Amino acid sequence: MKPTIQVHDKHFEVFIEKSVIENRINELAQRINLDYTAKRPLFLAILNGSFMFAAELMKSITVACEITFLRVSSYQATESSGKVHQILGLLENIKDRDVIVVEDIVDTGLTMVEIKQQLLAQQPASLSVVTLFQKPEALKQPIDIEYVGFEIENKFVLGYGLDYDGLGRNLGDLYVLC
Ligand code: IMP
Repeated sequence: MKPTIQVHDKHFEVFIEKSVIENRINELAQRINLDYTAKRPLFLAILNGSFMFAAELMKSITVACEITFLRVSSYQATESSGKVHQILGLLENIKDRDVIVVEDIVDTGLTMVEIKQQLLAQQPASLSVVTLFQKPEALKQPIDIEYVGFEIENKFVLGYGLDYDGLGRNLGDLYVLC
């Protein structure tokens, strides 16, 4: 039996080890280096969840680049329109820039669809997304994601930046609910 950890009221077991995650991040970085040769991309890392992924990714990016960190606020607008996500903290002018959004996980995809719409309105030269994890079965809207680290099943995960009610972001391995 795999060892488990308890976070709040739930038990989790190791799902993807840190070394496997970091090898994959390095592969993603090499693809980005090739695709952005002679460009100067601006990485927009979405807090809080992507802090660990963004840090690891940047260590293997060799093209000249910039990085900045954003938050996405989520609030209930009305019952019918549902949640609205708003980008907070984008001080850079992204017009005519090659922008790469760095996200921890794409679940329903609703957050990323809205982020992309709001960024596209500011007319970047190009816009792509790199996400460490994606749950294809959970997707509620079709969305193009250029760089996906791992496609995972539709189960709750934590670690490597992802939290369960505030805890677990510091775990180096990715854990799944058992
Ligand atoms: P989406 O709008 O449903 O794609 O939600 C994306 C956000 O939900 C991510 O940026 C995470 O913060 C959070 N999230 C989705 N799935 C998980 C999970 O399995 N564990 C922890 N957070 C998750």
